[in-house]
Amino acid sequence: MKGIRKYKSSALITGASSGIGKDFAYELAKHGYSLTLIARDLRRLNEIKSDLESKYKVQVEVNSKDLSKNSDIKDLVEGLKTKDYGLVVLAAGYGTGGQFHTLDLESELRMVDVNCRSVVQICHQFIQNRKDNTPRGLVLFGSLVGFQGVPWTSTYAATKAFIQSFAEAISGEYKNKGIDVISVAPGPVKTNFADRAGMTMGNAQSPDGIAKEVLSQLGKTVTVRPGFLSKFLGYSLITLPRNLRTFVLKQIMGQMVFGGKG
Ligand SMILES: NC(=O)c1ccc[n+]([C@@H]2O[C@H](COP(=O)([O-])OP(=O)(O)OC[C@H]3O[C@@H](n4cnc5c(N)ncnc54)[C@H](OP(=O)(O)O)[C@@H]3O)[C@@H](O)[C@H]2O)c1
Repeated sequence: MKGIRKYKSSALITGASSGIGKDFAYELAKHGYSLTLIARDLRRLNEIKSDLESKYKVQVEVNSKDLSKNSDIKDLVEGLKTKDYGLVVLAAGYGTGGQFHTLDLESELRMVDVNCRSVVQICHQFIQNRKDNTPRGLVLFGSLVGFQGVPWTSTYAATKAFIQSFAEAISGEYKNKGIDVISVAPGPVKTNFADRAGMTMGNAQSPDGIAKEVLSQLGKTVTVRPGFLSKFLGYSLITLPRNLRTFVLKQIMGQMVFGGKG
């Protein structure tokens, strides 16, 4: 892949212990990147590290951090001051499903911290770090649900709207200053996401290959909808007025969260 050769070949990946973040770890290792992998589950991170080091002969560091904890975010940001990554991929995130007032408030607030607060803090340090003119890349995770309000996953959809807006804005600020920013807006993907959110996804795409497509678009577009399903759902919805999108997604999310009884 020609595009990613322009970045210094080292990357920080959050949410690397499973799903889409893990796919990024494999894709970047394949291209010779040295990696720092972040998530809470150190055992899974270490398994991935051993596999990557033996398959691709790259250097992999792992670091267990809970990005809902401000102290852990601060540690990570502190570490960033002395590390010069070419790419930062912020895939850590989770969602919840249900009627808003019935959901655990602490978990909703932790979600805002993981999905938004940690992203703002890490991006701020990463961008400040850049002392030379070599290009840098920043991969953030929005979602199909981030383009309108979505009943039955209200806080999660709002966190993804935040990321979509944030990515578009900082992309505009740094576009001609050597920092490429992209927002990934997947539709349903078969990862641990649905289980943790208590959702059932009937139709979902595999996470394999998402990283390859996203990285091929980095620097060319601000939003990428990876895979056929994300494109099909995303482009069909985006033509509708915002209130109609909310209505349609309410039906879909109702199926995913309550099996249609919502
Ligand atoms: N799957 C989908 O349908 C879908 C659709 C649209 C957008 N997305 C977005 O894509 C991104 C990747 O999700 P995925 O589908 O790959 O889900 P996943 O398989 O559940 O992966 C989520 C990753 O985030 C990490 N994580 C969760 N909470 C964390 C915390 N408090 N601190 C640090 N790391 C944490 C998890 O690791 P640990 O559990 O080890 O901490 C895991 O590595 C997320 O931002 C998600 O919102 C997913």
